[in-house]
Amino acid sequence: MRMYDIIAKKKHGGVITDAEFDFFINGYIKDEIPEYQVSALLMAIYFQGLNREETVALTHKIMHSGDVIDLSAIEGIKVDKHSSGGVGDTTTLILAPLVASCGVPVAKMSGRGLGHTGGTLDKLEAIENFNINLTIEEFTEQVNKHHVSVIGQTKNIAPADKKLYALRDVTATVDNIGLIAASIMSKKLAAGSDKIVLDVKMGSGAFVKNLEGAIELAQVMVNIGTDMGRETVAIITDMEQPLGCAIGNAIEVKEAIETLKNNGPEDLTDLCKTFATQMIYMGGGAASEKEALQMVEENLSNGKALAKLVEFVEAQGGNKENVLNPETLPYASQVKDILAKESGYIKDIQSDEIGIAAMILGAGREKITDTIDMGAGIYFYKKIGDQVKKGDVIGQIITNKADKIAQAEKIVDEALQYSNDKIEHRKLILAKVTKDGVEKY
Ligand code: URA
Ligand code: CA
Repeated sequence: MRMYDIIAKKKHGGVITDAEFDFFINGYIKDEIPEYQVSALLMAIYFQGLNREETVALTHKIMHSGDVIDLSAIEGIKVDKHSSGGVGDTTTLILAPLVASCGVPVAKMSGRGLGHTGGTLDKLEAIENFNINLTIEEFTEQVNKHHVSVIGQTKNIAPADKKLYALRDVTATVDNIGLIAASIMSKKLAAGSDKIVLDVKMGSGAFVKNLEGAIELAQVMVNIGTDMGRETVAIITDMEQPLGCAIGNAIEVKEAIETLKNNGPEDLTDLCKTFATQMIYMGGGAASEKEALQMVEENLSNGKALAKLVEFVEAQGGNKENVLNPETLPYASQVKDILAKESGYIKDIQSDEIGIAAMILGAGREKITDTIDMGAGIYFYKKIGDQVKKGDVIGQIITNKADKIAQAEKIVDEALQYSNDKIEHRKLILAKVTKDGVEKY
């Protein structure tokens, strides 16, 4: 078999066989196939696309390029949730205890943040002594006992994806639906859950900019999961603006606590209710989605979801005082209000820019070796469509780096656009894609 022939075949729109994908991924992982040939194949795939069988075959090879985690020692149906990331995405901190409080196990491996997106592990480490480094045995035991654990990814998950992604990034081949779907699903499938719920983000800051593109990506991922025997459901959500109000680490933990007390921002609460409902239903914790939603709403108002967070934090060595009394969480020394520069309706919020401002204030890392200031970040209280008057307080900058305030303020100001004309509020939950079809909301 020759890489040249595979490239030539795809260039002319041919179909790559399972054996050819095996040859390509194995050879690439072992450095037997040079990057220039892989780049050429990626570009041919970019233009010619992959059919359903090809996408599944590619996903399968990438998934098996490293460790495949076995969660079978954990009792019950494990439902994993994946989000294509975002700014101020606090959902895992809320969903994990919320779903667990309804009796459905949550066994999650999470990552760290880089650039303008925050990572769940970093946020959890804002809680004093929280230990994200459990062995698989400790992880299993904790989920069986408490129904919830979140740890760092220690295993070698889908190394072929890391190499391919780095190459796609420099060859302008990231934004192909088949390649994105195979990349995301290979990692999710290797992580070992029984079922998968995907949060497919749509908007200017996401990989897909419009609903049609998001539905197409969602369908390809749902098809991969289905063909590989793991029930997969995708929910498409809007990412034109940050989710919730807090962008940082400790302040996002605080926001998660408020949300678990049923006192959080409306958009974040709605998103968490939607995903928790889906996970509980798929995890067999309720007979219908309606019943699952009822359980979710009950546990948000009766204190059980919050109590589960306390239990979860304690089980992983964290200081529960940080949850019971959130004022004990880190909070940076300098606070400055963000004021509306104009009167009118908020027309646009560039989430990634707000994320970058939070990073500059200390809440994120530019390089993987940077350390995070857990107490830093940005609160932004307004949503697209909100009406403001010039000089209104629309947010806060929180930092220990007084010399960065002016720079962050400027970035935030430039990330906002105002309009004199009324602007509609945006819908957050846009569509659901299952193996049976698409439901638009
Ligand atoms: N996220 C991934 O993990 N892979 C992609 O290709 C795109 C987004
Ligand atoms: Ca925008």
